Amino acid sequence: MRLILLGLGVVGRAFLEQLKIERRDLYESYGINPSIVAVANSKARIYNPEGIDTGSLIRYKEERGTLEGHPDEVDMESAGLVREIDAEVLVDVTPSNLTNGEPSLSYLKAALISGKHVITSNKGPLAWEMPALLEMFRNKGLKLLFSGAVGGGTPFLRFVKKCLSGERILSIRGVINGTSNYILNRMEEGLSFRIALEEARRLGYAEADPSADIDGWDSAAKLVILSNWAMDLGVTMNDVRVKGIRNVEISKELLFKGKTIRLIASADDSDLKVQPEEIDKSDPLAVSDALNAVSFTAEISGRHTLVGKGAGGRETAAALIRDLVELKMYMRGEKPC
Ligand SMILES: NC(=O)c1ccc[n+]([C@@H]2O[C@H](COP(=O)([O-])OP(=O)(O)OC[C@H]3O[C@@H](n4cnc5c(N)ncnc54)[C@H](OP(=O)(O)O)[C@@H]3O)[C@@H](O)[C@H]2O)c1
Repeated sequence: MRLILLGLGVVGRAFLEQLKIERRDLYESYGINPSIVAVANSKARIYNPEGIDTGSLIRYKEERGTLEGHPDEVDMESAGLVREIDAEVLVDVTPSNLTNGEPSLSYLKAALISGKHVITSNKGPLAWEMPALLEMFRNKGLKLLFSGAVGGGTPFLRFVKKCLSGERILSIRGVINGTSNYILNRMEEGLSFRIALEEARRLGYAEADPSADIDGWDSAAKLVILSNWAMDLGVTMNDVRVKGIRNVEISKELLFKGKTIRLIASADDSDLKVQPEEIDKSDPLAVSDALNAVSFTAEISGRHTLVGKGAGGRETAAALIRDLVELKMYMRGEKPC
């Protein structure tokens, strides 16, 4: 299986590492023999039709601080690479642009035009054009897989699709941003919002610009993906009302009453919102640290809540590998379990 990898950051490197660790099992259990023929980061494009030695590529990057000047560097843009190189799969782990999905959206369209399946953990294109993208890929007999885009390694999407198949999902409620959840947990312990945010930055939970996390936009993108997937709502970011946690206070009185505050993303029919909400401390969504939790309410079997790590390079790489296995089964005409 020939793969193009766009993005060599936390998730991209973890994906290559995990492929190396699982190479034998992937071949023996599923007949997957992946060959990475192209890799790109923001500055350089590397191509070798015989397959790139990814271990030495990463060493090259670590030693020189750049991929520029690598012997296999080619003078192409990422979209051209996707369009023109002979491969079956694009793995897109470039940064999520929640404003309009670009440039990843163009990479997905280039993959579609050139007949490639896509595995991605990038939320941007799905937040803006998921219904159309899914239809276009389906019409061409191609797979667009995105297990890692919501919940890192925790299989929220797979759980609702496979384990609750045949049931109508009436509503979704979730805590789907680890950074804001960490901050709210520390505020419960008495820290101010500002100090909790500084601490989250220091520990690497929050980015230098934390607005996507604390203003609710990251949660909104994931909510769009979850509700299109589980409830077939056909929505985009424009359909979500969003309020973040900047002005939240968690009083002692509230905690004394057995309540707390979490940033809740919810879809009830087509009413989609992200906002801080008071919930009982015993509610399964009152998760600690940077955990994620999603409750799906199914018509017959009721509420099901899945809790897990919402992010992490290795965890998200595990989701990409799951998608690779699903893709291989699809290519062989088998249904994944
Ligand atoms: N990290 C997580 O735990 C996690 C969990 C779930 C989903 N995700 C999603 O997974 C994706 C990757 O996350 P990450 O943490 O690995 O991000 P990251 O560390 O910032 O890495 C992004 C990589 O993409 C490269 N890149 C940027 N623009 C590019 C372009 N136009 N063409 C090719 N490569 C380009 C960057 O190049 P440079 O190295 O030159 O900057 C970098 O190597 C994001 O969409 C993120 O939202 C991440």
